[in-house]
Amino acid sequence: MAGLGEILKASRLPMLEARILAAHALGVERVWISAHEKDVPEANGLRAIEALYSRRRAGEPIAYLTGEREFYGLSLAITPAVLIPRPETELLVDRAIPLLRQGGRVLDLGTGSGAIALALALNCPMAQISACDASDAALAVAHANAARHGAHLRLLKSDWFAGLQGERFDLVVSNPPYIALDDPHLFEGDLRFEPHEALVAGKRGLECIDAIAVVARDHLNAGGWLLLEHGYDQGEACVGLLERLGYTKVSDHRDLAENSRVVQAQFDPAVARR
Ligand SMILES: C[S@@+](CC[C@H](N)C(=O)[O-])C[C@H]1O[C@@H](n2cnc3c(N)ncnc32)[C@H](O)[C@@H]1O
Repeated sequence: MAGLGEILKASRLPMLEARILAAHALGVERVWISAHEKDVPEANGLRAIEALYSRRRAGEPIAYLTGEREFYGLSLAITPAVLIPRPETELLVDRAIPLLRQGGRVLDLGTGSGAIALALALNCPMAQISACDASDAALAVAHANAARHGAHLRLLKSDWFAGLQGERFDLVVSNPPYIALDDPHLFEGDLRFEPHEALVAGKRGLECIDAIAVVARDHLNAGGWLLLEHGYDQGEACVGLLERLGYTKVSDHRDLAENSRVVQAQFDPAVARR
């Protein structure tokens, strides 16, 4: 009978992934696996490990297999109904936090797992945070994550701002879908398994960013900020769009991989163009 060490090696997966999945299948910490490589798992445990290895070899993302992903130091529950939060999205949170030192009303559009809204809620306790999504299944995950972290979030189902008539915010943030319909990346890696409606935004990938930027002017307080994540090659288009709409202090920011990633702009009703 093979010991855990041999099972890990035979997995044909990177060793880190093999350890993470074995630990998840056996319900133990990853360090336990390293300390017990000579142990022979019971039949049920072995079956659970092999089932996860085979799904992983077929390409399923680790986060969907374990049901967990860390974002901004928070462990989040993840299901295939939500986008797997990405490290580059932490830049949006980094840029938002200093804008919320005195609190304020915040809206996270397309909250998915609740990653951005929760990172803001836990780091800016004075802020009042609303978060919406068009997907009931995504909102259920966001609710579970808010409960897991004891965070007070107002979660609502809404097609962007449609369910927020008459409401204004000091900060609107969003990591909206921004991949073009025919982008070949959609057929590679994790993206193949993530919800289409969390990824794709029309022919150029800019449909959601466009729609949000136009309507956000009716939902921002004077001096309020709009922060949007975008694709690595969409920075210039986003800056141009926000300037055309009359936002002020428009700036684009790079993530840790040096890719253009987050556009930020302020709303001044005296300047905004209609
Ligand atoms: C790229 S995912 C971002 C999820 C999460 N904010 C994050 O950063 O991990 C985009 C999210 O927008 C939601 N979405 C797509 N179209 C929407 C719409 N018209 N109104 C509201 N949410 C929408 C999707 O369901 C998805 O959860």
